[in-house]
Amino acid sequence: MAEEVLARASEGAGRVLVTGGAGFIGSHLVEALLRRGERVRVLDDLSTGSLSNIAACHGDERLEVEIGTARDAATFRRVLDGCGTVFHLAASVGVGMVTAEPAECLRNNVEGVQNLLAGLAGLPGRLTLPRVILFSSSEVYGKSERVPLREDGDLVLGPSNVPRWSYASGKVTGEFLVLAEHRRTGLPATVVRCFNTCGPRQQPTYGMVVPRLLGQALRGEPLTVFGDGRQSRCFSFVDDVVAAVLALACRPETVGEVYNVGSDHETTVLELASRVRRVTGSASPVHLVPYHEAYGDHFEDVRRRVPDLGKIRGVLGPLLLTDLDTLLRLTLSHLVATGAAAVSASSFATAAAAPVTDPFSATANGTPVIPAVPAPFGAGRPAS
Ligand SMILES: NC(=O)c1ccc[n+]([C@@H]2O[C@H](COP(=O)([O-])OP(=O)(O)OC[C@H]3O[C@@H](n4cnc5c(N)ncnc54)[C@H](O)[C@@H]3O)[C@@H](O)[C@H]2O)c1
Repeated sequence: MAEEVLARASEGAGRVLVTGGAGFIGSHLVEALLRRGERVRVLDDLSTGSLSNIAACHGDERLEVEIGTARDAATFRRVLDGCGTVFHLAASVGVGMVTAEPAECLRNNVEGVQNLLAGLAGLPGRLTLPRVILFSSSEVYGKSERVPLREDGDLVLGPSNVPRWSYASGKVTGEFLVLAEHRRTGLPATVVRCFNTCGPRQQPTYGMVVPRLLGQALRGEPLTVFGDGRQSRCFSFVDDVVAAVLALACRPETVGEVYNVGSDHETTVLELASRVRRVTGSASPVHLVPYHEAYGDHFEDVRRRVPDLGKIRGVLGPLLLTDLDTLLRLTLSHLVATGAAAVSASSFATAAAAPVTDPFSATANGTPVIPAVPAPFGAGRPAS
């Protein structure tokens, strides 16, 4: 069913453009599209993505890869040619990257959307505009405390001297630009606000908590948790997110709308660290790191980030939500298989002696409150 509607969306111009297609989510999306029989073009500057992410697709003649930047208008115009559907993911992502380079991230994220719209406006002789799916983020909700967060709720961003809000500002600017274009020209666009998407190939480098904690556990290092660890997030599995986004792209009633996409199962970061220890069998202690040490003085965190999924469920019905332990095991299997986190057997032993604050080791005799339990790697996903 979904395949047919997607094919209809790209009627007359069969290629699907995925900007940021060599990135974490993008590469899973590319694979899913190829599995559905689509012809796919990727535009990626490889700033945080990698061709190794789409290595499994190499040699597939339905896949074209253009190494280039969405910030170059001519490049964007060229790659749009012949595309009936565009998934725009190319962006600077991650709290670490955004706090380090707020202005550059903002420019990157806004200019990409501007060039997308300029390129679409310049398409010659098109009777129907391509279907556009803009990837936005739960970050746009900022500090809103109206949990669960609804798409029609207020966006509460912090001050401009706090670098992290530049990411939200860029993403929400993209939303405004695309939705205004929808109203002006009828552009069939949908905005998806993803909430903490995780899974194989996500890099720990830019502040992504799941691969960072798994890598630390595998190396026997302390698990660094920022703040008091009682802030909560909802972690969703990348395959579930890709399936939901593809389904939204196929539904005509989603045009001109904004959707939360992800899981609504709330977990504190301390609980996440505990589960990481369980699935890895690690005895690594937890090290609480104050925010100002991690991100400097100008940093604000968000206590709860829980989506209201009523709107997306209203369109798609029940959602596939892989449970957190399975998500962790699948990500762990990939880390182990690719050697992305170097594992040292001896490091498991030394970690226990590390001088850190460990909220899980709070008993008088030092026995962890949550003992490390070895778990099988690569347990399969539950049947949907
Ligand atoms: N992972 C999450 O939890 C999450 C949450 C909310 C929103 N998102 C959104 O999903 C999208 C994908 O994120 P991801 O987690 O896969 O991150 P990622 O860093 O793996 O993917 C981004 C990709 O875009 C590419 N890129 C960046 N700037 C570019 C440019 N100017 N031109 C061409 N390519 C460029 C990068 O090389 C990378 O391949 C982003 O738009 C992000 O804002 C992700």
